[in-house]
Amino acid sequence: MEHDAPLVQSVDAFPAAANPIGPQRLHHVAYVTYDSEATADFYTRVMGMPMVNAVMDDHLPSTGDRTPYFHTFFRMGDGSTIAFFESPGLPATPDPPTPAFKNFNHIAMQVPTRADVDHWRTWLEWNGTEVQVVDHHIIYSAYFEDPNGVRLEITATIVDSWNDQPQVAADALAEWSQAKRGAQATGADVEEALRGVIAGHAHQASIAPHIEHNLSRQPAHRSHR
Ligand SMILES: [Fe+2]
Repeated sequence: MEHDAPLVQSVDAFPAAANPIGPQRLHHVAYVTYDSEATADFYTRVMGMPMVNAVMDDHLPSTGDRTPYFHTFFRMGDGSTIAFFESPGLPATPDPPTPAFKNFNHIAMQVPTRADVDHWRTWLEWNGTEVQVVDHHIIYSAYFEDPNGVRLEITATIVDSWNDQPQVAADALAEWSQAKRGAQATGADVEEALRGVIAGHAHQASIAPHIEHNLSRQPAHRSHR
């Protein structure tokens, strides 16, 4: 049955020599900016990420699109970079249909310890950046935005095995997919079915009362909403 097909196709059928090496680390992630100068100031001065390269061109080599741009790169400690494109005449980015998009689409950068995250919170707030700190228990995170509205996260690993739970992930994906397919097959409300799956798992990683406790302990650091 098609429904039983694996979600991720096996590469066993390929000759071993043809299997590419897996991605090794982040090389760069790129976003749109409308102000390269403000972006450079924020990433170099506030984030402590040196601007390590800049490229200009009148077209995008990958597609041939004749959109001119100025492309800048800011480097993290491991050599990976966050990059930006500013393009003259680029239309304003439309607001997403729901604010959730701005939270879902984000990039997290790692620091060694929980104390480092708290240090970052103090530093960012001193620089006028609104910060929300969340104790996810497996990781401890400070969330904020760059001058472009890009959602950033500074996080410390609390439980080293947080990124080594493949069976948990596989089971969760299977439950999710089966609920979706089951609802689709029977004409039931797919969104409702998926909300039901979520309700059975909510707060497994982020325990809400602990988050509230953590935030309420530090009212002096809470920025206005
Ligand atoms: Fe995150």
